Amino acid sequence: MTSHPRVSPQGFADGEEEWLGALRRDLHRHPELSWQEESTAARLVNALTAIGATEVRRIAGTGVTARLPGRRAGAPAVAIRGDIDALPIREATGLSFASEIPGVMHACGHDVHATWAVGAAMLLREAPAEGDVVILLQPAEEVAEGAAAVLGSGALDGVSAIFGAHVDRRYEVGQVVAQTGPVAASADFFEVELTGAGGHGARPHECADPIVGAGALIGAIQTLIARRLDPAIPGVVTVATVHAGTADNIIPDRATLTGTIRAVDPASRAFLLEELRHVSERLAAAHHLTARVEFARGTPPLVNPPGPTAWAREAIRAVLGPGAEMPMAGTNMGGEDFAFYLERLPGCFLRIGAREPGGAYAPAHSPGFYAAEESVFVGAAVLAETARRAAAALG
Ligand code: NI
Repeated sequence: MTSHPRVSPQGFADGEEEWLGALRRDLHRHPELSWQEESTAARLVNALTAIGATEVRRIAGTGVTARLPGRRAGAPAVAIRGDIDALPIREATGLSFASEIPGVMHACGHDVHATWAVGAAMLLREAPAEGDVVILLQPAEEVAEGAAAVLGSGALDGVSAIFGAHVDRRYEVGQVVAQTGPVAASADFFEVELTGAGGHGARPHECADPIVGAGALIGAIQTLIARRLDPAIPGVVTVATVHAGTADNIIPDRATLTGTIRAVDPASRAFLLEELRHVSERLAAAHHLTARVEFARGTPPLVNPPGPTAWAREAIRAVLGPGAEMPMAGTNMGGEDFAFYLERLPGCFLRIGAREPGGAYAPAHSPGFYAAEESVFVGAAVLAETARRAAAALG
């Protein structure tokens, strides 16, 4: 009998899945917060070097890139992005490879995202794309700063398309979502400071009370979604902090509200920011107050364009068969900083099923969240094949 090297359904040779699984568990044990991913980056540099990727180097602080040469010099290059940072959460999964860092946890699956990018590199080394594939391990996704830093570093100059994905326990391992249109929301932040005239709590007629104005404004802000935004378009406005006052018998002269605005397309994003300013200023005036309204713009909406999404869907069917593709279970109103890349480049952001058969749902950013190990191999294979199909289509 001749023995053949075992190749997994996703295309990994004997021992490679074990090696990737060990890398993932190592990353999970040693999570690091945004911009502090020093040992994570060092581990990933070692892993990419070990598998024979070229041009392995640090970028954008704690980021890493590497290159897998394509079959044809000068063919369009495609990037695969995995994010690498963890969250300030105390892990409660009970996993044998749970976090060893107190109060820090890979509660958003970025340990798996980093590992499947390395796995995709292994698969692309064996079966290269038409053009080069850039492996991009991005820091600081959770603070929505890493993607912009990567773009600023020039690491994606000359790249023609970019693909990335997120683990998701709403779907079983082997199920994948690649959907055209909005898949994550913009995440902008606002601060409204209402200024009136303070005085004695027993003599409100001598004052302009910013607390009563703030109360009216909190209710009015909710009408932006209920009465102003097209009801067919999702949106969220949340007032998250309210600060005013110092003592029980004093009307303060100032009240401050902060919160977040989420939208799924650039037009409704701009509309909600403008309407928040409008209602704040007009309602303040009605209460004899003035309003100072400031915005901090965060991630843009993440909108998958049709062409690159079609390449990803072909890849899902080729790797996993026709039953693997799933419709998105509702629009995600969270932000994802991959959206910064899609403002500049074509591409697609997928969701990769991460619940083991019979496993329970756990939301990302919760102390019980983890991704099943097999999601590493599915994500690696789908992203590698997506890169190949994108490069072929772009070529
Ligand atoms: Ni995440």
